[in-house]
Amino acid sequence: MASFEIITIPDPVLKQTASPVDRVDDEIRAQMDGMLEAMYTAPGIGLASNQIARLNRIIVMDIDCRDRDSGSRTPICMANPEILWQSEQTSIMQEGCLSLPGAYAEVERPAEVRVKYLDRDGLPQELQASGLLSHCVQHEIDHLNGILFCDYLSSLRKKMLIRRVEKIKKATLF
Ligand code: NI
Repeated sequence: MASFEIITIPDPVLKQTASPVDRVDDEIRAQMDGMLEAMYTAPGIGLASNQIARLNRIIVMDIDCRDRDSGSRTPICMANPEILWQSEQTSIMQEGCLSLPGAYAEVERPAEVRVKYLDRDGLPQELQASGLLSHCVQHEIDHLNGILFCDYLSSLRKKMLIRRVEKIKKATLF
């Protein structure tokens, strides 16, 4: 299956809310696999449906793929992810996004979350996440709700960040 093209700002699909899937069938599994392929190719550690111009609630992640030398892959695929609980304690981490190429900023989020979802086999699962995985899963669920990490910044910081993405996008077009 061909890999998906990753949509970047200012495409309006990134601002839209994705709808839950009825069930995880072969078509959804093929979408998950295609999203993983696009994510690994980019490379990135997470990808949400909106970023491939689909509006169903699917996210894929692999926070270990940053360690490229190890060659190990530990993908997580989620359909209809939902945050059940979040810690009062927060953590600040630098985030980036494949839809905002070249832009990074520190984002404050709940340090720990518990998420329920359907896995690649359509079975209900729960994930308790802290650290990078916590930021990643919250970042990807935000995408399904039309929210980008730059939306958490001050309007000035957000403008600067978007200008940076525009410059980088122009520089990579030939
Ligand atoms: Ni993102």
